[in-house]
Amino acid sequence: MLDYRVAQTADVERMAQCRLADPAAGPADERMAAYFAGKHHPQQASAPRIGYVAAIGDLVVGYTAGHLTRRHQCDGELQYLFVSPAHRRLGIAGELVLRMFQWFVTQGAYKICVNVAPENEPARAFYGSMGATELGQYWSVWLDIRARVRGAA
Ligand SMILES: CC(C)(COP(=O)(O)OP(=O)(O)OC[C@H]1O[C@@H](n2cnc3c(N)ncnc32)[C@H](O)[C@@H]1OP(=O)(O)O)[C@@H](O)C(=O)NCCC(=O)NCCS
Repeated sequence: MLDYRVAQTADVERMAQCRLADPAAGPADERMAAYFAGKHHPQQASAPRIGYVAAIGDLVVGYTAGHLTRRHQCDGELQYLFVSPAHRRLGIAGELVLRMFQWFVTQGAYKICVNVAPENEPARAFYGSMGATELGQYWSVWLDIRARVRGAA
């Protein structure tokens, strides 16, 4: 059964394994373990951060992570998002991002950005479906995620 939970250190290897199912996406960021350990800080990141996995038992089929930031005058940044090809278009990314939004709201972080390559049409379509607007060529932004989190307005 598919289950969503907070990512633990032990999940980092499973997250990397999950990504191997999509060679086009390239390997997982090798700094992921350091990111979760608070030893790798993306530009303008502050310490608070969290990740979530979608898993069937020990098998991770999707993951996300994000942190607080001042980048692009935002409050938070979505750092990682991946769903294995066999599990796409089932709403898993939507569920993962919703969990990130719920966490951001608990942190008082409402304006959230995400870096997305211009040629990554699926990701652009996904973020658009989640209500993000484009911010230049490489970024998308949610100006206020509270409307997307029940009970957070
Ligand atoms: C982008 C990605 C995370 C989407 O994951 P997913 O679990 O398939 O997304 P969801 O099922 O939650 O999709 C929700 C909606 O987003 C849109 N969407 C998602 N993938 C899409 C695609 N390939 N083409 C067009 N629209 C898409 C659709 O509106 C979809 O709703 P629908 O299936 O009812 O039409 C996944 O394709 C992925 O991991 N890609 C490789 C890694 C990546 O690019 N990550 C983002 C880095 S910025």
